[in-house]
Amino acid sequence: MQRTKTIISGLIIASLVIFIGNTITPQEPPQPVQATHGMVVSTNRLASEVGVEILKKGGNAVDAAVATAFTLAVTHPSAGNIGGGGFMLIRWADTGKAVLVDYREEAPGRAERDMYLDEKGEIIPDASTLGYLAIGVPGTPAGLDLALERYGTMSLPQVMAPAIKLAEEGFEVTQPFSRSLEGYAKIFSRFPSTSAIFLKNGKPYQPGEVFRQPDLARTLRLIAKEGPTAFYKGEIARLIVQEMERGGGLITLEDLASYQAYIREPVRGNYRGYEILSAPPPSSGGVALLQLLNLLEEFDLSSMGHNTPESISLMVEAEKLVYADRAEYLGDPRFVQIPVQGLISKRYAEDRLKKINLSHATPSNQITHGIPTLYESEETTHFSVVDSKGNAVANTYTLNGGYGSKVVVEGAGFLLNNEMDDFSSKPGFPNMYGLIGGEANAIAPHKRMLSSMTPTILLKDGKLFMVIGTPGGSTIITTVLQVILNVIQHGMNIQQAVAAPRVHHQWTPDFLYYERDTLSGEILKTLLQRGYQLKERRSIGDAHGILVDPKTGKLWGGADPRMDGVAVGY
Ligand code: GLY
Repeated sequence: MQRTKTIISGLIIASLVIFIGNTITPQEPPQPVQATHGMVVSTNRLASEVGVEILKKGGNAVDAAVATAFTLAVTHPSAGNIGGGGFMLIRWADTGKAVLVDYREEAPGRAERDMYLDEKGEIIPDASTLGYLAIGVPGTPAGLDLALERYGTMSLPQVMAPAIKLAEEGFEVTQPFSRSLEGYAKIFSRFPSTSAIFLKNGKPYQPGEVFRQPDLARTLRLIAKEGPTAFYKGEIARLIVQEMERGGGLITLEDLASYQAYIREPVRGNYRGYEILSAPPPSSGGVALLQLLNLLEEFDLSSMGHNTPESISLMVEAEKLVYADRAEYLGDPRFVQIPVQGLISKRYAEDRLKKINLSHATPSNQITHGIPTLYESEETTHFSVVDSKGNAVANTYTLNGGYGSKVVVEGAGFLLNNEMDDFSSKPGFPNMYGLIGGEANAIAPHKRMLSSMTPTILLKDGKLFMVIGTPGGSTIITTVLQVILNVIQHGMNIQQAVAAPRVHHQWTPDFLYYERDTLSGEILKTLLQRGYQLKERRSIGDAHGILVDPKTGKLWGGADPRMDGVAVGY
């Protein structure tokens, strides 16, 4: 209880920790948005508002989540999607039951293990990230429909109406959206169906201009009317396959018709009195997050302080061990046997802890995966939803890279993912996130590529405490970890917790990444002396979370300031 009090009201302590201890400029701690009944926190104002309108109309958290996801497909097209895939974690307040909807993309039936290698066995540049061969069979329409049909209370036409309207009538382009289009304009111009939508006379849309997507509106209307059948077996399926034929892609009508979203059990663990629910394989996110928390539980992170050399070294040494395991063991559970219970056990963490040396960085090439005992059967986007009954949804979905493969299905107006890059194209060689994968994540027909998406729910004394997640490719897991630690160990409110500077290590490459201008010269010097190779990044992640005040039940929303995030509640 003492800890909870610190979390909710510990603004002063946290502001000292963040702003005097570690960063360059002192300023007021950011405040979360407060609400009594329900809340949606996403990377886009329009999408958060649509979700909250659905809640106000009596929809539950799943109705709001599905409406938000379809809206992001219109208003945040770099990652919001119907041509990608993701994971939706749902928990009911009354029964405590939780499920994970796995709507991850999968490899087309004609995909081959070495499809991204040339005759010398070398990786063909860009083949898994750009254009037609990079595209996995999309899962989003199937996943959103499954979630709504099983767990929602509204119909597809009801929850999709706002997205259809925004696609049809358009919305005002914001500065960040315009900047994003500008960044991708050159690459869009290589794909006529894509530049026809995202460029106006060959130029990116400017802030304040209205961006309309009539083809996408028609596609969404078809899905609303006919359900996902329109996408997987009907007119949209035919348009996707025509697009594949035009560009040399692999997806067939059979691939689309056989796609299914699955209901899975979330992975569960605990950390210092909090229960954690998160995404199971084919995401590595939940397993890796629980492994990290198990390793860190042994240490007094609170007294080490936020982003001090001590706390950074500890997190980073734990991260190297966990990402080494990720590379060895994780993949699609329909294809590989994953020792999930072994990896997330406290006993395994005890063994792995022996490898951690806090006084000096252990070089990554001296680290390898462990042997858990039990075998058993940078543009993504996350939003968090809580409804008036305390039901919660954590949804992370993606096209993988910004605007995915950059291929728009002509006539259907939506982008297709480049998720095939999340497979390991050549075991032992890095993908676009620098992640190394092993045999467990090698390409096979209809296999789902390993993800890092980590939609996560925390409980305290059996009650909802936090809903959290983030985009960020390989940095997703460590970003979710840091937000959780910021709240539980460093006494931050949820807004501070998502805004606070982040660091990241993923075993290979052997770099300690930190956000630009967030660590003092002294801290950087100490880390260098400890043997870390430091690399600056503009930013890491875009986390959106909701915290429930255990005493009053009030909701506190934290939207990441790194992009365009907005928390809306009522
Ligand atoms: N495409 C990023 C991930 O699934 O981890």
